Amino acid sequence: MSAPNPNQLAFDSHIEAFPSGRERPVSVSRTTPFQSITDRDGPLESLPESLLIQGNAYHALDLLPERSVQTVVTSPPYWSLRDYHIDNQIGRDESLGEYIGSLVAAFDKIRRVLRTDGTVWLNVGDAYTSGNRRYRAPDKKNRARAMSVRPPTPVGLKPKDLIGLPWRLAFALQDAGWWLRSEVVWTKPNAHPESVRDRPTKAHETIFLLSKNQDYFYDVDAVRGPNGRRIRTAWDIPTEPRKRSFGSLDDHPAVMPATLARRCVELTSKVGSVVLDPFAGSGTTLLAAHYLNRRWVGIELKPAYIDLIKRRLERFDTLGTQEAAG
Ligand SMILES: C[S@@+](CC[C@H](N)C(=O)[O-])C[C@H]1O[C@@H](n2cnc3c(N)ncnc32)[C@H](O)[C@@H]1O
Repeated sequence: MSAPNPNQLAFDSHIEAFPSGRERPVSVSRTTPFQSITDRDGPLESLPESLLIQGNAYHALDLLPERSVQTVVTSPPYWSLRDYHIDNQIGRDESLGEYIGSLVAAFDKIRRVLRTDGTVWLNVGDAYTSGNRRYRAPDKKNRARAMSVRPPTPVGLKPKDLIGLPWRLAFALQDAGWWLRSEVVWTKPNAHPESVRDRPTKAHETIFLLSKNQDYFYDVDAVRGPNGRRIRTAWDIPTEPRKRSFGSLDDHPAVMPATLARRCVELTSKVGSVVLDPFAGSGTTLLAAHYLNRRWVGIELKPAYIDLIKRRLERFDTLGTQEAAG
């Protein structure tokens, strides 16, 4: 028998799903094998199993084999919105141009690891200029979370301007060679109220579908809309408040709805494909991929979120689909 791989978390549980005794006890035994490394480890020749990398996406992407990934589902840090309190994070202390430049550079690395028929789902938020007010009101729910300062108003914009950040990034990615194939408007029926009185309350975000080449894998039948019609570009999906079931480890401020991640994974990958999230956060994309029998690669800079991802995967294996279903 070969020695156990210390980097591999093999979770094998036997639980009684109905401890009350009224229902028949069910024994669940599932295993999620994956390799866990850091961006200081050496490059991999192949991806026989799923992979979690702690580190800077820009360096970690160099460890993956060329053309190994079918699709990417990701939501990078938004510009100047949250402070993840860690060096090398994207989105903090950068001008708008530097922020876009950082993401375009990361996307160059993504292009190398994507298969020739590969795609990227990119969820990115817009922002308003600060009007050169450097102070930012604290996040009422978590004072440590929001950035304490706002960047200066970008040259050419005015106070209170909506930046149009997703489209500026999309144009930069087009210039860098990506095909921009779709803009999905994700509307949130449970969006938070805003205190502003001179514009409509914002209740949507943008998701772009990008491809590496003109032709790419897209399963038009994988997800259907109402009455069986083809899925359209307006997706009405509520945000899913995280359950506080892991104590402080559960505290990720920007979790994507599981429904959204699963929809993207289903449309642009097959069973057994590799799905990548280079800004994995709490691991929603990885859980969606696992739920849909895809292999996954997750990259996340903050060690506490790597722990959170491992716990979410363990919980998924213990409780079946409940965790992935949000
Ligand atoms: C918007 S969150 C992703 C949330 C994720 N979609 C989820 O559902 O939990 C962005 C994540 O990117 C991470 N991050 C920031 N800079 C990074 C970098 N340079 N490399 C890798 N991860 C980074 C942050 O720690 C944060 O967890």
